[in-house]
Amino acid sequence: MNKETILTGIRSNDTPHLGNYLGAIQPMIQSAIKYSKTHCINMFVPDLHSFTTPTEYDSLFDRTLQNIKLYVACGLPIEHENVNIYRQSYVPAHSEMAWILGCFTGFGEANRMVEFKDKSSQLGDDRVSVGLFNYPILMASDILLYDAKWIPVGEDQRQHLELTRTLAQRLNNQFGEIFTVPNDTKSQQKFIDRDSSLRIMSLKHPDKKMSKSINDPAGTILLNDIPSDAAKKVMAATTDSVGVINLDWENQPGISNLLCISALLSEKPIEEVAKAMTGKTNYGELKSIVAGQVEEFLTNLQTKMKNLDDSKILGHLEAGEKSMNIIANKKLLQIQKAIGLRK
Ligand code: TYM
Repeated sequence: MNKETILTGIRSNDTPHLGNYLGAIQPMIQSAIKYSKTHCINMFVPDLHSFTTPTEYDSLFDRTLQNIKLYVACGLPIEHENVNIYRQSYVPAHSEMAWILGCFTGFGEANRMVEFKDKSSQLGDDRVSVGLFNYPILMASDILLYDAKWIPVGEDQRQHLELTRTLAQRLNNQFGEIFTVPNDTKSQQKFIDRDSSLRIMSLKHPDKKMSKSINDPAGTILLNDIPSDAAKKVMAATTDSVGVINLDWENQPGISNLLCISALLSEKPIEEVAKAMTGKTNYGELKSIVAGQVEEFLTNLQTKMKNLDDSKILGHLEAGEKSMNIIANKKLLQIQKAIGLRK
């Protein structure tokens, strides 16, 4: 029987932040540890997606290597035969599949992607590339090439996952069962033991998500921040004037965000963490707890990263790319035949 695939990717154009970690890396690695005997685990670096912001070789290479080291430092068992790490652009089938999928995607459908609307409104028409517009189609290709069923991602990628499901269903209806349709959002959440899709908010602007693309250094905890500086950012987090701690995203988003971060870093249910703090009037106490957790988490992570051997990681990366090319080319040929590009 074919193994089910769990897959996710983190772009490498900037240093990942705590939102990336809690939204995607943490659940992916927890799943990898839990399921590496029974599932394929594909954790890759979408370097073509990173390239929607043009870069240069040395910096992209370095950041890509840092991302893979981050996966390993967070616990990805790369020695396991079912665990695959790779760079998207080293498996050229991703781009070709994206082109094919693009031909089955409506312009209006792609134009409805909220992420695209958000990013393009920040950039202005002249600086918005077609690459950015095509971003979710390439993402669908990343997923469908490997028949991945489980895709741990944060809330902002939910719509892209829905588009992936739609495209898989559309092509299957037209050409027969070629693609595995990824599971729906509800099942995805259940798979990673979460009640809802996760959106970690900015510490400074708790109405906005923590993000690489907005200039918000005080609101964003980068995974390479000096741990004591990160703790200071938590201590300076924006809260509210209610004066009593409650888990209430609507009226107390800053406090709720801190409770959420605390729960995920301590791997406890948010209800339990919220219950212990509810009704307290000292916001400083909550901030100190979270600041300590963040500082400890970053210290451990950064120590582990320093001790990793680059050449060993690069060896795994190249081996992963070799085997992923075989799998991806097989799927690509299947669709090329179905749509009439190959006999
Ligand atoms: P990227 O690098 O922008 O984001 C990586 C992951 O981090 C999640 N994330 C968050 N989660 C919670 N709170 C936040 N504030 C927050 N900010 C970001 C994102 O949802 C994402 O899961 N398009 C993907 C990369 C990708 C991919 C794929 C993922 C390319 N192809 C195929 C899965 C499958 C992205 O957003 O990268």
